[in-house]
Amino acid sequence: MKLIMLDQLNQLEHEALDSLGQVKTAEDLAVWQGQYFGTKRTKGALDRTLAALGTLSKEERPAFGKRANEVKQSLVAALEVKQAAVKELDLEQMLKAGALDVTLPGTPIPQGRLHPSTQVLRRIIRIFAGMGFEVYRSPDVETDENNFELLNMPPEHPARDMWDTFYTTTPGVILRTHTSPGQIRVMRERCPKPIRVVLPGMVYRYEQVTARSEMQFNQVEGLAIGRNITLADLKGTMSEFARQMYGSDQKIRFRCSYFPFTEPSVEVDVYWGLETERDRMITKGTGWLEIAGAGMVHPKVLRNGGYDPAEWSGFAFGMGPERAAMRLYGINDIRYFWGNDLRFLEQF
Ligand code: DAH
Repeated sequence: MKLIMLDQLNQLEHEALDSLGQVKTAEDLAVWQGQYFGTKRTKGALDRTLAALGTLSKEERPAFGKRANEVKQSLVAALEVKQAAVKELDLEQMLKAGALDVTLPGTPIPQGRLHPSTQVLRRIIRIFAGMGFEVYRSPDVETDENNFELLNMPPEHPARDMWDTFYTTTPGVILRTHTSPGQIRVMRERCPKPIRVVLPGMVYRYEQVTARSEMQFNQVEGLAIGRNITLADLKGTMSEFARQMYGSDQKIRFRCSYFPFTEPSVEVDVYWGLETERDRMITKGTGWLEIAGAGMVHPKVLRNGGYDPAEWSGFAFGMGPERAAMRLYGINDIRYFWGNDLRFLEQF
């Protein structure tokens, strides 16, 4: 009896260690553990063998019990070794599965961008900043007086027809039709000091919106006031601007024009070229690109700003960044600018 029982114990140990040798994963190990040590609900092989203790005689029990303990301890020890090995293997596999492949392309982060008008506006401002012009901000909501009267356009002046105006419900208050009223504001603030400023910002016109005209767009006004500023300074400034904006050795020309607030008045063209069909389209067949209205500040305007025209002179100019952008990028419809169509905006 005793011998058979001891044999069973030995065989159990042998089998258990043998099958433990086959275990590779945590799941297998759990099954093995259940099989020999039992689970919460089931008895294991070891328990079942130990239960036989009760069937043995008093003399047989100690030897059997001793051996049973040895087997249990040997299995527990083997189990612990295996647990550590399985854990290490698991970790290794987890690391392998989760390994970072640094050669994979990253997840792209959607990026916003500046509006094409802002881009061109900033480029223009940067060029003038390099020539010593500071940026001066003046308000979009203006008085009729600053927008027209002090720029040498009294109430019934026919030149007012050049700008179709948005009026507000407050008499004498309008949306500025151009950035030129900013000239009056800077002069009155800075008088009697020399001035060199650019005034960027939105202007508003009560116009039918078409491919060629919008009711709002940006302008960049320029104003330089000094003791002996001449038309040559205007020409030099415009040449340098054109060179930096459109490329080196850029030819420019002045065409006679009329603005009530300058005398003489000119329009500034840069030479674009007439080689391709696109050149012809962009320059309306002339080869020249109109970039600004400009002129010498009218004596009346100087005086309205507080400067004595006998001692002071100055030049002014006004340009439109959207028009510049349209020409630079071949945009044929001005309505794209404020249409908020991402397909358009994302191209810049
Ligand atoms: N204010 C004019 C416009 O909106 C542009 C302009 C012309 C501005 C001549 C000037 C200038 O400062 O001297 O059409």
